[in-house]
Amino acid sequence: MSERIAVYPGSFDPVTFGHLDILDRSAAIFDRVLVGVLENPSKTPLFTAEERVELISACLESRPRIQVTTFRGLTVDFAATSGAIAIVRGLRAVSDFETEFQMALMNRRLNPAVNTVFLMTSFTNVFVSSSLIKEVCHLGGNVSEMAPPVSVEAMRRRFAEERERGE
Ligand code: PNS
Repeated sequence: MSERIAVYPGSFDPVTFGHLDILDRSAAIFDRVLVGVLENPSKTPLFTAEERVELISACLESRPRIQVTTFRGLTVDFAATSGAIAIVRGLRAVSDFETEFQMALMNRRLNPAVNTVFLMTSFTNVFVSSSLIKEVCHLGGNVSEMAPPVSVEAMRRRFAEERERGE
């Protein structure tokens, strides 16, 4: 039987425990999961796409069926070229639903062969988002229960560099 592959696209700026939670749930359903870090020139992320891939890779040592790469362009094209049958997205709260519903239906219109699978994060991660943890970390708050140590250390380093440059 052929492998059932899913892609998990996102910004991952940086990877959080919420993302890893969704990844572990995906790996329990699919044979292989490919994390796709979007290279999006219209956003100004804290980390480059390569840095974001490195941070995710550091979390994958104990997760052999999960790989990570960057992608450009449409998620459905990334899914198709990866041989994926599904796009995985995490849902935290009802507020995520509207945008996600819209994206899933657009993606289905673009490529009906690829289904979007929504997975719910664990209760402890319901409020965790990359943008919130960046803000909290930037202001000196403790985010070590919300993101893996590699992400926390990378954020602290990046914010310290910014402060040294007077930004
Ligand atoms: O982690 P994010 O920022 O919520 O991820 C959003 C992402 C990357 C999944 C979405 O912006 C996306 O799919 N971008 C790729 C371009 C695309 O396919 N756009 C049409 C989506 S309906």
